[in-house]
Formats: sequence, C-alpha cells, structure tokens
Amino acid sequence: MSTSLANAPLDIRAIGLPLERLDGRAKVTGTAPYAYEQPLADPLYVHPVQATIARGRITAIDVAAAKALQGVVAVITHENAPRLASDEDKELWVLQSAEIGFRGQFIGAVIADHPEVARQAAGLVRVEYAAQPHEAELRADGDGLYTPKQVNPDYPTETDEGDVDAALASAAVTVDQTYTTPWENNNPMEPHTTVAIWADGGLTLYDSTQGTHSVRAMLAPLFGLQPDRVRVIAPHVGGGFGSKGTPHAHDVLAGLAAQAVAGRPVKLALTRQQMFCLAGYRTPTIQRFRLGADREGHLSAIVHEVVEQTSRIKEFAEQTAVPTRLMYASPNRRTGHRLAALDVPVPSWMRAPGETPGMFAGEVAMDELAVTCGLDPIELRVRNEPAVDPESGKPWAARNLIGCLREGARRFGWDQRDPTPAMRRRDGWLVGTGVASSTYPRYAMPGSVASIRYGADRRYAVRIGAADLGTGTWTALTQIAADALGCPVEAIALEIGDTDQPKATVAGGSSGISSWGSTIVAAARAFRAEHGDDPGAGAETSAEMPENPDEKRFAMHSFGAQFAEVHVHADTGEIRVPRMLGVFSVGRIINPRTARSQFIGGMTMGLSMALHEESVMDPRFGHIVTQDFANYHIAANADVGDLDAIWLDEQDPHSNPMGSRGIGEIGIVGAAAAIANAAYHATGIRLRDLPITPDKLLS
Ligand code: MOS
Repeated sequence: MSTSLANAPLDIRAIGLPLERLDGRAKVTGTAPYAYEQPLADPLYVHPVQATIARGRITAIDVAAAKALQGVVAVITHENAPRLASDEDKELWVLQSAEIGFRGQFIGAVIADHPEVARQAAGLVRVEYAAQPHEAELRADGDGLYTPKQVNPDYPTETDEGDVDAALASAAVTVDQTYTTPWENNNPMEPHTTVAIWADGGLTLYDSTQGTHSVRAMLAPLFGLQPDRVRVIAPHVGGGFGSKGTPHAHDVLAGLAAQAVAGRPVKLALTRQQMFCLAGYRTPTIQRFRLGADREGHLSAIVHEVVEQTSRIKEFAEQTAVPTRLMYASPNRRTGHRLAALDVPVPSWMRAPGETPGMFAGEVAMDELAVTCGLDPIELRVRNEPAVDPESGKPWAARNLIGCLREGARRFGWDQRDPTPAMRRRDGWLVGTGVASSTYPRYAMPGSVASIRYGADRRYAVRIGAADLGTGTWTALTQIAADALGCPVEAIALEIGDTDQPKATVAGGSSGISSWGSTIVAAARAFRAEHGDDPGAGAETSAEMPENPDEKRFAMHSFGAQFAEVHVHADTGEIRVPRMLGVFSVGRIINPRTARSQFIGGMTMGLSMALHEESVMDPRFGHIVTQDFANYHIAANADVGDLDAIWLDEQDPHSNPMGSRGIGEIGIVGAAAAIANAAYHATGIRLRDLPITPDKLLS
C-alpha cells in the first residue's frame, strides 16, 4: 500500500545507533538541574496542610501557632488564599472552599524560610471539621455505580457486537471468572516538585512535568492569565509514568503560594507520603471476563465487564476493557465499564492506563481457556488472530503478535514445556512457565511546532518545548533531527523543556517521539527546501506536525509477547521470577540503548505489579495506609532475575517518517499475566487477584 507524503521515509543514519544519553554525564555528576535544584536567589519553602477526614467541610482553621513560629512568612488557607478564576477542574480548585473531597486533600500551606520550619509549622495548624459519611471502598455491588459517557481518552464506554448471550449459551467451552487488580501508585524517583515565581503579573514555574505547554494551558486560565504570562521550564525530569502527565493540585498550590509572597521564589516538593494521595494513581479494578469457544479453541464470544473507581470531585474513567476490543477475533463481543464515584483521591494516568489492568484479566482468561481446551496457550492465540481490527474493520498498519509469540517461544525454549501444571520440582521449588500477549496503541498528538535555526557556530538549533521525563528524549530527538537535516548528530543543538520554545504536546500515551519527531522532520524538510543544505548563519524555518492520512485508514497498534519463568517454594509459598523475556513489534527503534531501558523498565514494573505493588485503603478513614517504600514494595534489583527484551526488525511505513511507534508503555502490558500464568503452571493454583503473594498460594 502507498505511503502518504507525511510519512515519506527518512534517509536513516543516526537513527538506530545506540547513542549514550546526551544528558547522561550531567545527570550522574549531579549537574543536571531538576526542578527543586534550580538555583534561585532567596527562595522560600512551602509545606502543605492536609485534610484528615474523607468528606465534609472545615468549620474552623486556626493558624495562629503556625504563624508565630520563627521563620514563617505566610500561612494560606481557603480563608485567605488568592482566588482562582475557574472551578471547572475540582482537583485543581485548591484552597478555594471549605469542602473536603478526600483524606489528604490540601487545606492550607505554610511558607517559610526553611523547609523544616514550614513542615513543623504545618503541624501546628488546628482544624475543626463537620464530617459527613464517606464511601472509600470499591465494591462490585456498591450503590451508585454509573456508566460514564466515555472512557479515556475518548473511547466509547460500551461496545456490543453480535449476540454474546446466545454464543455463550451454545459454546462447547466457556470461561467465566472475575479478576481483580489493586490500587497502585506511580512512584517516580523524583517527587512531584514545583518551584514558582510570581512577578510582573506573570507566573514562572520550574516544574517536574511531562508537558511544559500542557501545564501552561491548564494553569493560565486557572490563574486568570494569558498563556504567554505563564512560563514552564522542565529540562530534566526524574520519571513520571503518567503522574506528571497533567498538573495536579501541588502545581496550583505552588502558584498560590508564589502569589501570596509575590516576588520571591517558592519551592514545593511533595514528600513520598504525600505522593500517595496527591499525584494520581491507578484505579483498582474488578473485571468479569467471559469467553466462549469451540473445543478447538476458536472463540465465539468475548465479554469484558469492568468495575473501577473515580473520585467524587472529578471523573477519571480508565479504559480498562479497550484492549479487549482488538486482541482476538470473535463474532460476538461485548465490553463495558462502570464507575464508582468515591470519596478518594483523584485517580490518573499510570503507565499504559487501561491496557495494564485490562490485559492482566484478558490474558489470564485466555490461559484458562487454553487449559480447558487442552491447547498450547500460544496456539490458542494463533487460532484467534483477527485479519482486520475487529472493532473498526480497518486493516492493521502492522500486526505482528504471532511473530512476537513465535520468536519468544523459540528463544525461551517453549517447546520443552510440558503443559500439565504442578509437575516440576527442583530443590523444594515448584517450577512453571507462562506467556501472555501485549499491546499498546500507536498515538501521535497533533499540534506541536518545531523551529530550526542555523547558527554562526555551524550548528542547527532545533527548538521544541518537549519534555524528557527520563526516557531519553534529548538523545532520540537529536538523532531524528540529524537524519532529517542530513548532518552529523554533533551539528544538532537541541533545545527542549521550556514553554519559550515552540508548542509541544505531552510526553504521554507513548506518543512523544512520534509527535515531536515527525514535527522536527517536517520543520527540517521545510528548512532544507527553503535554505538548502549549506545555509547561511541565521537561516530559520518552523513547521507544525503534518496531518497523517494513514491514521484514518489503518488500525495502528504495537504488539508484544511476554514470557516468564516462576519458582514457588513448596513449603513457604515464596515466589521468585528467575527469567523474563519480552519480544516487541513496535516499528523502527530510534535508539536501541534507551529503548531497551524502556522495555525492561516496563517489564520490571509489570513484575512489580504481579508480585508486590498494592496500596491498601482503610475504608473506615478513607486513608491509604501504605505510604512508603517499606509498606509499598516496588521490585528492586534483588527481585529481578534474568530479564531481557528484544524487538522484531521492522519499520512502520504508516506511523511517521522515522518508521517508529511508541515504546514507553508496552513493556508493562501483559507482564503480570505472564507471571500469573507461570505461577499457575508451577503450582496448579489459579490466582486472579493481584498481587500474587505467598499467603494466597498457601491458602
Ligand atoms: Mo503515560 S501513563 O500516558 O504518561
């Protein structure tokens, strides 16, 4: 099929090289400025005061003791905080009313000359509440479940094709199970941090964010400012996993604090504990999955019904059942989402939102069907491969799930596998292997602009206000710019991370490199058309991301296969994962070194999800009790065995001129299911409730 002009492929030279991170040296020597470390004269420090009830209102707030502490410059509460201009987003409606929507919500802040003083003073604020009854527990039979109008980012809530009830009733083989995943919190290494300066009627933020321009776009109207009066700077970010994909309440609190002490910079860094209720999190899910098939494993019905939560103050509807719509062929398919609006912190984006919990349920259900049919789980997937996208009927731009499964099977030694569970024992350990599919949509977001200027130093200044959230954007965009301009990487001077640069979309939905890269290519093509390849100093051109007509013609998704070996101790139930392999089909790889780090990072996060991560809610208080790394364990080196990620040698002619698709999120998808399926193969015990812990295996 023909390729659109927007995707006309590049002459590839720098793309594909395993370049070291251009920002690596600055990071390991401590000279890369993260938000909190920005050198600013005479800063003040902000420490928040948080609500200790889950629902109700403040009846009295006494700040006298806090204000009296030496070093305190100001205390702000809903009674005296500067007014915001829009209450459209209640998560960002900070210190504007006495209402409490969840435990941990900001109800005030102390601004002091030292962080320790601010923290101590925050503890001296006395608050009286009129509490109302609250609901903080997600239950499938809870009152008030509702059907949202759409799920994120803009998918239909429900789909219904054919007659699933009739198909299930007449199916030779069925699976009907409920799978649950817990509340999980994003924990990037760098806490959410905003340094704010209010001066000359404008706001400057050094922010730890995945999108400088998106922070500006959301905060400017909130503070009643024209967008060009808000500047957001983020040259380096210490991870986000989606939690820095949109501004949260702390961005606003820092802005209000800066306004209250106008002229002086204020620094606000959330503590690790505060991040568990103020930076977004992955909703817990309760997922009923039903499959109907004939004895040979050909699916006749797929039903995926999800119950999940949002906060009462703001809707966030995770797209958990959406991947089910495209994974396997079946004439009868139904998916749907129901939401519980609870008095809890506001859920948000967490690495592969939707795909991550949804594919856990779906890929364990497929494993259960394989067992029931007596089929190899890879063969079951091959038999249900859809020729076109089942939902839209569009052709796939590229779908190489089977290639990933087959290549992974070959490398992992899958042909040695005896399908009978609980058969292998080694030194007191039960041994099993498991597989699961992986998928993630190919997104690109319209609206970015890049400018290119040739300097007297004979280098191209390539400017775009993108963010590198730690993934390698500095390096990958430099490689793309070099090929687009037909010059060595040394001739590129990339400038990112600042709203003073042309508009860039968010580093989210694994769309960053696709969006910004194709924008840079468009700008480079315009530059070369205008100025040639021997430009004079000062030559400058800019361009917007071109439209890609292939987006409408094709279903564009990445695929992968995850393999895991699990050992379970027969006496203690201890679980180890000595071996994992991921094989991915993601188009062309821009930089194998940084790409590999994205894949194995995602897989490690999937391992962590499978065995460790769980935020425990005490519904009596609406309180997340697991607020630190002692209680909320994240997989560390000691938990990770021989973990490897590879990719098929591909280029995608429809996605963009680089031939790439996104890679930031697909690594987590399916990893937890592969481990759960391997744990079943090891023990014969099917666990459908994450995380898989020894107590669940022993009971
Ligand atoms: Mo990702 S959760 O879309 O930043």
